[in-house]
This record gives sequence, C-alpha cells and structure tokens, in this order.
Amino acid sequence: MLTDKFGRHINYLRLAVVDRCNLRCTYCMPENGLAWIKQDDLMTDEEMLSICTVFTDLGVDKIRITGGEPFVRKNCVSLIEKISELKGLTDLSLTTNGLLTEQYIPQLKAFGIKSVNLSLDTLDEDRFFKITRRKSFDKVMKTLDGLLKHHIKVKINTVVMDHQNIEDIIPLVQLTKELPVDVRFIEEMPFNGNNNSDITPKWTYPQIYNHIRDHFPGIKKLEDPKSSTSYNYKIPGFIGNIGIIAAYTRSFCGDCNRIRITPSGILRTCLYEGGGINLKDMIRSGVTDDELKNIIINSIHHKPKDGWEAEQQSLNASSIHQSMATIGG
Ligand code: GTP
Ligand code: 5AD
Ligand code: SF4
Repeated sequence: MLTDKFGRHINYLRLAVVDRCNLRCTYCMPENGLAWIKQDDLMTDEEMLSICTVFTDLGVDKIRITGGEPFVRKNCVSLIEKISELKGLTDLSLTTNGLLTEQYIPQLKAFGIKSVNLSLDTLDEDRFFKITRRKSFDKVMKTLDGLLKHHIKVKINTVVMDHQNIEDIIPLVQLTKELPVDVRFIEEMPFNGNNNSDITPKWTYPQIYNHIRDHFPGIKKLEDPKSSTSYNYKIPGFIGNIGIIAAYTRSFCGDCNRIRITPSGILRTCLYEGGGINLKDMIRSGVTDDELKNIIINSIHHKPKDGWEAEQQSLNASSIHQSMATIGG
C-alpha cells in the first residue's frame, strides 16, 4: 500500500493518455490549442503499461484513463484492454468528452469498465458550440445514449460558467429524473491554458446549490463516500443523483487518495504541483522496475500536505497557467 508521510493511502491513479484534444473548451484552452507534446515525448503504450503495472504492484487498485478524449490517442482501445488485465485492479474507468467514444462502448463493456465520466456543459447545440468551439454536440449525445444502453454508469461533468450555461443547470438536473445518470456541477478552476490566473468563479458551491434548491425545494443531501470529489444530493423520486464539485473553493487535500501521470510520463503527486519526476525518462534511461518502485515510493512519501492551501497563498503559482488537458483533470 502506498502511503505518504501524512498517512494518506494512495490507491487512485489518473492516467492522462493524450494532451491533444478535439475540442477547445474556453475554460480549458485557447482557440489555437496548446503547445502540444512532441511525439517523442509522449509515452508509448509499453511505457504506460509498465508504469501502470508498477503502480498496481504497489497497491493502486483504481485507474482512471483521462483525455480530453482518450480515443484521440492512436490505438487507445488496445492500451485500455491491456490495462484492464492488470492484477489487483478493481476499478478501471474513463473520463472523456465523448466525441469518439461511442464506437468503442461494446469493447469497454467487454473489458469490464463499469463507469464513464462524460464532460457535457450544456444541452443546447448552439451553446455547446460557443463553449467548445466545435460542432460536435450530437456525437456526445450519441455516446451518452450508447453508454446508457450498455448499462455503463455515467457521471456527467458540467463546468458552471456565468453567462454561458446557467440556463442549463435545471434541464441537466431534470435529466436525472428519468435517466440513471449522475450530474455533477463543477466550479470553474483557473486551469485554462491562458496566462490569465484572474478567474474567480461567480458560480461557486452555494450559488449552484441555492439555484437548484429554488427549483427543487425537496432536494436531499446524500452521504458522501470517502474521497468523493462531489457533495452529493438527490431530488426525491428522481433516478440519478446530483453532485457539486467545489473544485475552486474547497480543499480535497485532507483525504486525497490520488496521483496523476501526464501523457509525457510526469508523476504529479498533487494537482497544484508543477514539475514532478518524469517516469518515462527514467524508464528510457534503463532503470529497473524495482528502482522505479523505490523512486515512486519516495516521491509519494513527499506528496505535499495541502497543495490547495499553498495555491491560495501563492500569487503566481506555476500550475495556474496550465490546462486541464495536459493534467487530465
Ligand atoms: P470519480 O472516480 O467518479 O469520483 O471521478 P472524479 O470526480 O475523481 O473524476 P473526474 O475525472 O470526473 O473529475 C471531475 C472533476 O473533479 C475534475 O474536473 C476536477 O475539476 C475535479 N477534481 C478532481 N480531482 C481534484 C483534486 O484533486 N482537486 C480539485 N480541486 N479538484 C479535483
Ligand atoms: N475548471 C473546472 N473543470 C475543468 N475541466 C476542464 N477544465 C476545467 C476547469 N478549468 C473538467 C472537464 C472534465 C474534467 C476532467 O475536468 O469538464 O469533465
Ligand atoms: Fe474541453 Fe476537456 Fe478537451 Fe479541455 S481537455 S478542451 S475541457 S474536452
């Protein structure tokens, strides 16, 4: 079991398989995209698999494959298949924008994937275009449909933005009436790939909650699982649940159980921490699995106590200019 010096057990690895994205969400990256990683700097499938194997050997039992859209990566489906076969893994899931996922759903089901988190900020085609700068609304809706038909658990992630998708909040809550989906509203974070850290979201947890409660006064609080990113609720009689992820205003650090690997192989022990060691470079320089394990154990031991707090205190944190696409959310 991987444990840091504050006693937090790390069992959840978020593996970002690709930095390129087929959307250009305004809260994530500029219109022209980012300075994409050079092909040579991107981990190969073998390197990703070696790293996942080492982590599962060390006690990680939950892996989330993240994009953008993970299937932008060539042959991602076979990488997912191999990861799904790792010993000790009990929970393999995906976070995707849903543009290319639909065609792979039967395979995902066959690999034992039980849950997919789907980014969807609006139910309106025009607003979808304004937010993502791409006309791909139908593809996401088809993916949603396909996942439900295959009985894969879906959590919709909706970033809440003033003047952009406030009118979508209630229709998205309404989705949970008839469909077995959870909808989670996320406070916007300053990970937008711009040199602009001046984002203080107007719609934070209390505003979002009050807005929903005004329409559904019977809304009930649910118990939140340990290390849940969201505060969870239910409208009585509705099938799905509602969540609010206070990504900007709340610290997740106290019971954080997660680490991240970027597409170029950097181990980030905290969302807010720039830098981090490059495991791919170590593999390429010929370290053995045992050496790699020791490097990982040591790095996790030094996971920052409270990256969120440090971020609040720092006026010019390095992470603030980055994009979620390179970190994988
Ligand atoms: P589950 O396994 O379903 O709980 O997924 P998840 O919520 O961990 O993953 P998902 O990829 O759906 O991430 C949802 C959002 O949670 C991300 O976009 C972030 O905004 C937020 N989030 C995830 N981890 C952290 C974290 O460590 N700190 C903060 N502030 N936000 C986080
Ligand atoms: N603030 C909050 N959430 C974000 N995501 C991407 N960028 C941001 C941001 N700046 C979300 C996406 C996706 C999840 C992994 O991260 O909506 O669902
Ligand atoms: Fe949008 Fe996610 Fe792609 Fe960023 S990585 S542009 S949030 S779909």
